[in-house]
Amino acid sequence: MNLDRERLAELVDDEGGIVQRTLFVAPEIFQAELQRIFPRTWLLVGHESQIPEPEDFVVSRMGTDSVILTRNKQGEILVFLNSCPHRGMRVCRYDAGNTRVFTCPYHGWSFSTDRERVREPGAIVGLPRAEEGYGNSLDREEWGLARCPRVTSYKGTIWANWDADAVSLEDYLGDMRFYLDAVLDHRDGRPGGSMVLAGVQKWRVESNWKLAAENFIGDLYHEISHQSADLAKIGPSGGKGRRDGQRPRLAIGFPALGHGVLGYTPYYEEQPYSATWTNHPEVEAYFKQVYEARVANLGEAMRVHCSVGTIFPNLSFHANQPRGFLVTHPIGPTTMEMWRYYLVDADAPDHVKAALRAYALRYSGPGGMTEQDDMENWTEATQASAGSIARTRAYNYQLGLGKERPVPGLTGAIQSGSYSEANARLFYRRWREFMEERSWDALMAAAEADETRMAAHGD
Ligand code: FES
Ligand SMILES: [Fe+2]
Repeated sequence: MNLDRERLAELVDDEGGIVQRTLFVAPEIFQAELQRIFPRTWLLVGHESQIPEPEDFVVSRMGTDSVILTRNKQGEILVFLNSCPHRGMRVCRYDAGNTRVFTCPYHGWSFSTDRERVREPGAIVGLPRAEEGYGNSLDREEWGLARCPRVTSYKGTIWANWDADAVSLEDYLGDMRFYLDAVLDHRDGRPGGSMVLAGVQKWRVESNWKLAAENFIGDLYHEISHQSADLAKIGPSGGKGRRDGQRPRLAIGFPALGHGVLGYTPYYEEQPYSATWTNHPEVEAYFKQVYEARVANLGEAMRVHCSVGTIFPNLSFHANQPRGFLVTHPIGPTTMEMWRYYLVDADAPDHVKAALRAYALRYSGPGGMTEQDDMENWTEATQASAGSIARTRAYNYQLGLGKERPVPGLTGAIQSGSYSEANARLFYRRWREFMEERSWDALMAAAEADETRMAAHGD
C-alpha cells in the first residue's frame, strides 16, 4: 500500500472530520505505524514505585517490542530491549524481580547493568566459549543488550523514546502536563507522591489500539454503553452512576501535539467537595482530609481532578477514581494488549488502598464493569469494520466541527464544549503528521507557533 502524503490526506481528513476505516483493520497501515510512530514517540514504560530498590526490574513494552526497565546498583534507571543480541531470545522471561545480571536462557550469554563491572550498562559479562570460540575478541559492549537512548522520569513515571533526536518529554507534553499532574500528584496537592497499587493488569482485546486511545481522548458521547454499570450503582458511594458528584466536562485538546482530555479548564470554578465514600466512613474521612489539605496547599492553583485523557499515541488515563493509566499496546492490526496501572497516594492508609483496589477492579480492567462495556464496543466495531465492503467506508468525526475556541491559560489548547469530536480529529491529525515522517522541526513547528502567539497575548 502506498502511504505517501497524498494517500494519507485521503485516509485522514481531520478538517472535514472523516477518517477511513482501513486505518483500523489494514495490516500495511499497522506495519507503517510500527515504523513511523512507536519508535519516535515518548512512551510510558513504568513507574519508579515498581522498581524502588537497586537491581529491581520489570518487563514492559514499547510498541511491539518487549523491554526491560531496571534500576542499576548506582540507582540509574535504564531501559533495554528484551531480546538477546545473539539469536534474539527473550532474555528476561519474568514480569518483575531483582537481579544484578540478566542471563539469556538460550545459550547463556549474560549482561550486567552495574557500572562497577562494565563501562556500558548492558554489556556482556558472561560469554560461553569466550576463549575457544571467539578468541576473546568479541566486543562485549557492541554485542551487549540494546539500550534505549532516551529515558526520563516525570513525577515518578518513567518514559522512553528510541529516537535520539526526539524533543524533550517536556516539549512533547506541552501544557498537557497540567492534566497529567492531576493524575500523578498526591490528592493533597503535593507534586508526585503516587505509587502503582499492586501489579499491572494485562490482557488482550481484539481491537485496533487507536479505538481505545480515541475513546479516552474525549468521547463523552457513549454513556448509553454504560447504562447497566450505572444502574448497578458501582460508584464508591453506591449511589447513581459510576463516579458520583461530577459536573459536565469539556473536550480540551492540543492540536499541535495530539493530546486531549475530557476535563475542566484551569480557571474553571472548583467543584465543591462532595462525599463519595459515604458507605465507608473511614475512607471518606481520608478523602475529606486530603481535600482540605489540597485547598490549603494549592489555594488558587487547585487542580481539578476529574479528567480522562490520552497522551499521543497510546497512553490513556483517569485522573479521578479509579486513578491510573491504560496503555493500549499494538499487537496486530486488530489486536491490542491493554495494560492498567492503578495509582494511589503512596502514604495513604492500607484500608484506603484496599478500598480503592476493590473499586478499581469493579470499574476497570478485564473484569471491570465499565471497561467491559467499552471492550465490547471496540471488538465489535473492529469485527464489523473488517468486512470487505465495510472496510471501504469512512468513520464520521464531525460532532462539534467548527466549535473550537482557545483555552486561556493553556498554550495551544482548544475546547469545544461537552459534545465534540474535536479531540479525535486532532489525534488523527497528529497520527497523519507522524505517518508523513516529518522531521522533529516540522512536527513541533505548530506547537512553537502556538507558544509565540500566547506570548504575544501576554498569557
Ligand atoms: S540467544 Fe541468547 S545466548 Fe543465544
Ligand atoms: Fe466508556
